[in-house]
Parts: sequence; structure tokens; C-alpha cells
Amino acid sequence: MTLHVARGLLRCPHCAADLNADGARWVCAAGHSFDVAKQGYLNLAAGPEPANADTAAMLEARGRVLSSGLFGFVSRALDEHVPLTGIETVLEAGAGTGHYLAELVEARPPARGLALDVSRAAARRAARAHHRVASLVADVWRGLPVRTGAVDVVLCVFAPRNLPEFARVLRPDGRLLVVTPTAAHLAGLRARYGLLGIDDDKQTRLRSAASDRFELEHTRTYRLQATIAADLVDDVIRMGPNAFHDPPHADAAEQIELSVELSVFRPVSITA
Ligand SMILES: C[S@@+](CC[C@H](N)C(=O)[O-])C[C@H]1O[C@@H](n2cnc3c(N)ncnc32)[C@H](O)[C@@H]1O
Ligand SMILES: [Zn+2]
Repeated sequence: MTLHVARGLLRCPHCAADLNADGARWVCAAGHSFDVAKQGYLNLAAGPEPANADTAAMLEARGRVLSSGLFGFVSRALDEHVPLTGIETVLEAGAGTGHYLAELVEARPPARGLALDVSRAAARRAARAHHRVASLVADVWRGLPVRTGAVDVVLCVFAPRNLPEFARVLRPDGRLLVVTPTAAHLAGLRARYGLLGIDDDKQTRLRSAASDRFELEHTRTYRLQATIAADLVDDVIRMGPNAFHDPPHADAAEQIELSVELSVFRPVSITA
């Protein structure tokens, strides 16, 4: 049980009052209460899981891909952009397995992490990701169940972005790190297997959406070419939303190109 690391960080998703641990539940002063699941995560979602939440099978595929080291270049890029000292709290929105968050807090003791995802299957895995990571089920579009100004770093890796909420939970000197795929990411594989496309304007849209609350401090593209075995090709295809469209299985090794952009944003103070 690692939820105790969330002490002092959470707020009630219904009324925004502070949320505090009370035995096996978390409660606010207005009497809203949330049970800790037996797998160790706290469910703060208001309703049922949406249809696009990652499934257990997608999480397993993602787990195998991440442990293969294929996305190690993304871990290194994130690590380079988070200071090694002075970091108390890192939040990952759309955390999936909690892999990147666990690596960052592991290298920055006693930093603690909040892994937030709308998928219960993700929350189950993230609850086991690291002893200093608390796992929460919540929908980023319904507001973050996190206190204002409580977080040093918000991570958002291939996941939905609620920029006003990211700005609210960050400390004034905090940073938002966003990783998005570029148009070249897995382009060959996508063409060959008829997979979902990547919006060419993703980066431009991110910058303009962020511009009223954040200043772009740094941006860089990271690329990797690799030849991977057929099993891993299948996992790369099925670890994301393509899994919902039942793509064909890979029958041979493939040479692939991974290409992502990391953007680091600093919150700007809003004057009324
Ligand atoms: C492509 S995965 C990325 C996971 C992880 N960041 C990684 O890179 O390994 C996107 C994640 O966002 C989650 N997600 C999708 N919509 C969400 C929402 N509205 N609120 C919170 N999480 C969401 C999915 O369940 C999934 O785990
Ligand atoms: Zn409440």
C-alpha cells in the first residue's frame, strides 16, 4: 500500500475540499468518501470507466514494450529535464503502468509520485510501480483531484492534456513536461499495418493551447531506429488505441522509427 505518499496532496473530486486518509477510505469534511481498492489504488472517478480507457491487455503489451528498453530514450530525455534535487512531488497524467514516473522518483529520493489514469487496469499496475508512487483513478477532463500548487512536475507522456488543470496544480516554479509523437513516429509501421494516423499539427496545437497559461521553455525531438522481433511489433501495435481496431498480427521482425517531441513548459502567473 503506497497511498500514504498522497497525504496532503489530494482534494475531493466533488467539492474540492481537502481529502484525507481515514482507515481504508479517504474522506473530505463534507462527508464524501472514497474506498481504497484491494489492489492498492484510490478510485476518485465519478462514473464508470469510459470506453477509451486502456484495457488490461493493452497495459500488458505496454508493460512488455517498456521493459524491453525500446522507449529508454524517452526515459533519458525526461530525466535530463527534471532537476535531481529539490523535487518533492511529481504527477503523471495518463500514467498507464507508471513506468516513467517510477523511474523519475526512484532517482530523486524522497520525491513522491501521483500516477493518475482513468483506466482501472492502469491503476492496478501503477499501484505496484514504486513504493513512493500513489495510484489514482480519475478522468483528467473532470479536473484533477489534486490540491492547488501542490506539484513540482507534471508529466504527460502520450496522454490527454488538461492544461488549465495542469497549471492549477503546479507550484509557480514548477514545470510541465509533455511528450507527444511526431508525424514520423512509427510511420512505416502505421502505413504497413493500416494503423491510426498522427495529427501533423499536434505540436503546433499543443503550443497554442498552452500559450495562455504556460511559456515554452525548451523543446526537442528525439529519434530512435530499431529492428524489433515480431512479438514486440505486435505489442507496439497493441499497447495503444490501435488495439481497439483489431489490427493484423505481425509475422516478421520490423525496422521501426520512433520519434517524439519533448516540450518543457513553465507556468505563467495570470493577472486578473
Ligand atoms: C498511450 S497511454 C500512455 C501511458 C503512459 N504515459 C506511457 O507513456 O507509458 C495513454 C494513457 O492515458 C489514459 N487516459 C486516456 N484518457 C484519459 C483521461 N481522460 N483521463 C486520464 N487518463 C486517461 C489511458 O488509459 C492510458 O493509460
Ligand atoms: Zn467533498
